[in-house]
Amino acid sequence: MMTAYKTTSLLRTGIELGVFDVLAERPLRPEEVAERLGLDARATRITLDALAALGLLESEDGRLGLSPGADELLVRESPGYFGDMVHVISSDEEWEALRRLPEAVRNGGSVLDTDAESPEYRYWEDFASYAAAIAEPTAQVVTDTLEPWAKERDDLDVLDVACGHGIYGFTFAERHPRARLWALDWPNVLTVTAEHAEAFGLDDRTEYIEGDMFEAPLGGPYDLITITNVLHHFSEERATELLRRAAGVLKPGGRIGIVGFTLDDGRPPRQDPAPHLFSVLMLVWTSQGEVHPMSAYKRMLSAAGLELEIPAVVPGLPFRVLTARHA
Ligand SMILES: C[S@@+](CC[C@H](N)C(=O)[O-])C[C@H]1O[C@@H](n2cnc3c(N)ncnc32)[C@H](O)[C@@H]1O
Repeated sequence: MMTAYKTTSLLRTGIELGVFDVLAERPLRPEEVAERLGLDARATRITLDALAALGLLESEDGRLGLSPGADELLVRESPGYFGDMVHVISSDEEWEALRRLPEAVRNGGSVLDTDAESPEYRYWEDFASYAAAIAEPTAQVVTDTLEPWAKERDDLDVLDVACGHGIYGFTFAERHPRARLWALDWPNVLTVTAEHAEAFGLDDRTEYIEGDMFEAPLGGPYDLITITNVLHHFSEERATELLRRAAGVLKPGGRIGIVGFTLDDGRPPRQDPAPHLFSVLMLVWTSQGEVHPMSAYKRMLSAAGLELEIPAVVPGLPFRVLTARHA
């Protein structure tokens, strides 16, 4: 635990410098890597040997090549490339925030001048650009879960609140050609969302609502409102406020789709570490955020005049999909 940050730093460095990409062609000597990437030869040797020590590279006859796994996950041209996730789950912003955890624990929340709740926070642009690897499979689960309901619906007007990349709305709209989307987020993030709308071929069915989701006029009413991976930024009271706003613009028979980490009430932390570790990020990065237990979700929905349907799990990822309707 005391040295885990070195592993993170080496992985980030290898990806940022393009080490794995250059070794994808063939094994090379450290000085050849240095020359190809415009790096210092001695420093490259130290770094490549350390990456080999971690098992990400293999060393043979003075040349370094990729280990199985590194070739699949860390080479930009590979279909399974996962390297961009460093911008999301090993970001500078998280790194700096977590250094100040003791202060946050004393203070009861973030001590940063700029944090995840700041309007137009720059990190959310990276999140929108690079989180597709986790958003895509989760968005499929959301769309599958809503499929029986959607089939029976004449209109499918969708509001994606705090949409980020927009993949939740776009995945749903791809499946349902009559769906129309309204994507809400800060303006700097919506620039990335608009690029994705174009890539999905959905720009003619997408409108944008810029601004604070607690303040901006929401338009509507909507058949479906997605609120994904954002309720944990807030206290139970503040998250309830957002659910109330959403419930106010939900058509009769409409659905709210929620995605996020959740906690099972009474389950020991050791048996379900991911949401507890994520809560620590919310502690250093927001004023009141944390992962809410299922009992809190039920309370929040009920206070907003909504009721929970059956929750779904996302295979291989620590998220739950919850759908809700008017009580
Ligand atoms: C963790 S990301 C979630 C993105 C996407 N919904 C997903 O599930 O991957 C949180 C998003 O909420 C947006 N956000 C946070 N606070 C907001 C606010 N008050 N108003 C509008 N957007 C906000 C951020 O800009 C960011 O895009």
